[in-house]
Amino acid sequence: MTLSESAAAPVGEVVLEAVGLTKHFPVRRRLRDLFSGTKAAVHAVDDVSFTLRRGRVTALVGESGSGKSTVARLLAQLYPRTGGDILLHGKSTTVKGGRGFRSYVKRVQLIFQDPFGSLNPVHTVRYHLTRSLKIHGNAGRTAADLEAALANLLTRVSLTPPERYVDKFPHELSGGQRQRVAIARALGADPEALLADEPVSMLDVSIRLGILNLLRDLKERLNLAILYITHDIASARYFADETMVMYAGRMVEGGDSETVTQNPAHPYTRLLIESAPDPDRIEGIADPTVMDRGNGEPPSLIRPPAGCRFNPRCPHAMPRCKVDLPPRLEIGDREGHWAACWLYDAETVAKEGIGSAAEGSSDIPTPPALTLTEEAR
Ligand SMILES: Nc1ncnc2c1ncn2[C@@H]1O[C@H](COP(=O)(O)OP(=O)(O)O)[C@@H](O)[C@H]1O
Ligand code: SF4
Ligand SMILES: [Mg+2]
Repeated sequence: MTLSESAAAPVGEVVLEAVGLTKHFPVRRRLRDLFSGTKAAVHAVDDVSFTLRRGRVTALVGESGSGKSTVARLLAQLYPRTGGDILLHGKSTTVKGGRGFRSYVKRVQLIFQDPFGSLNPVHTVRYHLTRSLKIHGNAGRTAADLEAALANLLTRVSLTPPERYVDKFPHELSGGQRQRVAIARALGADPEALLADEPVSMLDVSIRLGILNLLRDLKERLNLAILYITHDIASARYFADETMVMYAGRMVEGGDSETVTQNPAHPYTRLLIESAPDPDRIEGIADPTVMDRGNGEPPSLIRPPAGCRFNPRCPHAMPRCKVDLPPRLEIGDREGHWAACWLYDAETVAKEGIGSAAEGSSDIPTPPALTLTEEAR
């Protein structure tokens, strides 16, 4: 598909779907496990489902260790999956290298957190971009075509005039400029989907907004489907159309970004928002330690808690939460807003008799204001 064709695809067209995506990493067995026959594994990602659409940014939010990068790597086909499926334009897709992998990465590109680590320090910008254009068949036929394609890529990421940047080495560029080169390299494939794994978290706060604005501009101009991975829910509200929240390998809430961030339903999402109190604070966002302060510890992913994985930290936990895994339950305030939480199951709340989810409203379930228990602290 050429750039003009791909950009002409309808906005909202489904590009990529994760269906019950699961990844368990086996861990080295101890002698005791050998005798007991236990197979220990890190349950990094369990039953994760979502859709990436053209012209839309979908944010995947969660604290460190919640499984976000593993989801990105699974979608990029860098890891084999333990279970579930990845659908590209509705077709189940598994590639393990070779030609199949190349044709997949032409359509689905991954951008890493650390632009310095992802660019080879001994090669220039020209080398990185030329390689991407050539591998994906977008370099044209002549030297002039290639120069034009290089200039086009650099212009698209606002590294202008292109001749000022094209022969620079990574160390001659700022962090933001390096991330722009990494984005340009991904665009060299003319992809349909970009998987951006914490693309601004290693950058100086003053340039984060510029990179997010660039990605938003590319989403609109090139009609890209973007997965934006972040530990910072404030930036998701600013940048993403849809937001999904992950906790300990499972998705716990999803919906349009405005609703999830303004009316969070899941107690964990509320906790995240409490930890990042000012959603408009895009400039000062993403202190990676912020979410870990005083909110209890995420559980072990080798032996994750039964039932709802958030139950050891949740101030609203009911007996059922420790036994049964909550399904996705519609919240009812906005179409598509859901939370995996028993507070939104009227029968459970009636039976277990703890803090009615429907308190304060006849039709919109509103869990009681989240205050941390001593235990959760
Ligand atoms: N290659 C691996 N082998 C074993 N465990 C891993 C591997 N990659 C990630 N994990 C574990 O999986 C969990 C999720 O990690 P990750 O996806 O990197 O989370 P996040 O990106 O949200 O910080 C963590 O407990 C991490 O230690
Ligand atoms: S109320 Fe229960 S299901 Fe909901 S988050 Fe708390 S522990 Fe999980
Ligand atoms: Mg990560």
